[in-house]
Amino acid sequence: MSLRGEEDPLWYKDAIVYEVPVKSFFDANNDGIGDFSGLIEKLDYLHGLGVTCLWLLPCFPSPLKDDGYDISNYTDVHPSYGTIDDFKRLLAAAHERDLKVLIELVVNHTSDQHQWFQAARVAPAGSSARNFYVWSETDQKYQDARIIFIDTEQSNWAWDPVAKAYYWHRFFNHQPDLNYDNPEVLEQILHVMDFWLEMGVDGFRLDAVPYLIEREDTNCENLPETHIILKAIRRHIDTHWPNRMLLAEANQWPADVRPYFGDGDECHMAFHFPVMPRLFMALHLEERDPIVEIMERTPSIPETCQWALFLRNHDELTLEMVTDEERDYMYLAYSADPTARLNVGIRRRLAPLMNNSRHRIELLTSVLFSLPGTPIIYYGDEIGMGDDMHLGDRNGVRTPMQWSGDRNAGFSRADPQQLFSPVISDPVYGYQAVNVESEEHDPASLLHWTRNMIRLRRLFRVFGRGTIDFLQPANRAVLAYVRRHEEDDTILCVANLARNVQPVHLDLGEFAGLVPVEILGYTEFPVIGVEPYFLTLGPYGFYWFELQHRRR
Ligand code: GLC
Ligand code: CA
Repeated sequence: MSLRGEEDPLWYKDAIVYEVPVKSFFDANNDGIGDFSGLIEKLDYLHGLGVTCLWLLPCFPSPLKDDGYDISNYTDVHPSYGTIDDFKRLLAAAHERDLKVLIELVVNHTSDQHQWFQAARVAPAGSSARNFYVWSETDQKYQDARIIFIDTEQSNWAWDPVAKAYYWHRFFNHQPDLNYDNPEVLEQILHVMDFWLEMGVDGFRLDAVPYLIEREDTNCENLPETHIILKAIRRHIDTHWPNRMLLAEANQWPADVRPYFGDGDECHMAFHFPVMPRLFMALHLEERDPIVEIMERTPSIPETCQWALFLRNHDELTLEMVTDEERDYMYLAYSADPTARLNVGIRRRLAPLMNNSRHRIELLTSVLFSLPGTPIIYYGDEIGMGDDMHLGDRNGVRTPMQWSGDRNAGFSRADPQQLFSPVISDPVYGYQAVNVESEEHDPASLLHWTRNMIRLRRLFRVFGRGTIDFLQPANRAVLAYVRRHEEDDTILCVANLARNVQPVHLDLGEFAGLVPVEILGYTEFPVIGVEPYFLTLGPYGFYWFELQHRRR
């Protein structure tokens, strides 16, 4: 029996999420592919890291033409990763360690190998079975919808010779979009959700939600009818599954993402896509404006809702939510080698994007951990893993986790040729240089640093729950904000975005009489007076100060 009813229903606000592809993490049966048993073996590592929630990339049966985002059966697991029983063992082992488990649910489309699609192709036109997907006699409908995978697709329509009709697909042409105008589709998807929630998963990342419904003369994104579907999903969850969570993947501007929270009756969480590239922009420009501007353009969200923040994920670093001019300089700054570019973005990991600078990695992580929202860490970024942009599509950021300097990076004992992907082996980021084991032995490693920062963040609820107010110091290389939660919980964050030392005067008049205590070292700073507060920051330096009442 579960004790979920007694849990804090807002647990996701204090969570630290770890995004993990099961395939890439650890291979327990040595067939070259990571599996559920392997992940179970590594749960102590994740628990020790301090994360509180795992987000598993798709594990369903799939032809794997889009790394599992092409699902061919929603109620089973891919045999490479194990069995449903293995998955249940994983859930139980995670829950024993107080780790929540989110799974991916691709609600917008399926694989063309899904039996629904196979049945739809041969079903009579106009029947419900046919209308599980979106069909048309011409490829001229919905011309105002953009193409998302511009490097591979020329149209959102593809011809099916069996049905003798075009079907609609917003992503790869082997991923037909489900038709939510057919009420049976939603009914089936709710059954799928029940299947996994019954087993005990704590929530879903809802992939590609802006595209559920299409209408002529619109761009077919974020339509009111799409929100009606999401509200129906939420109603179902609230009625049957308390304390579970829905996380929306909507790569949109803040004003267009806001409706995905509804009045607290749609998704509990949504990714903040626009802030992500702006963290990298601000670092490149050495000025805070891009971050402050986007945060000030971010509407407030209902009390029960939360932003999901990230630096990197399993996709390219998307540059869709920036202007053309900004995209140009971002490409130059972060992907001088055009091989790194994919669709509208950059397929690189955090450490290479930062030119492997510890200072820059730490700075961006400190911002990620202190802006309003729940941070998501992409597997391997906690040890500074590299990538291989020659692997095709986004596979270069999905390589085996580097556990040690042993064969196959300690990921698997299979023959190296048998691995689902080569390991990173270049001299800088290769597994002999970058791996968990050696970083465990090195107290100054990025792994130790990240673990400490996670611990620290978890001590202060204000980070996940508090408000934010930006300060406007004259020195624009300095990003400074105050996080506040309830009466006494006030944290001042100050970050130097520049490569050189910077001075800053902060207007802290309203906090006069309080003592800033730097929380990494628990160091007391001089009491705040009415005059501007003066600080110097080292290159890419940052401080988190708790503002305390003076001890007597
Ligand atoms: C989302 C996923 C991406 C996938 C796409 C199509 O954007 O993050 O990996 O390719 O949906 O399913
Ligand atoms: Ca395996």
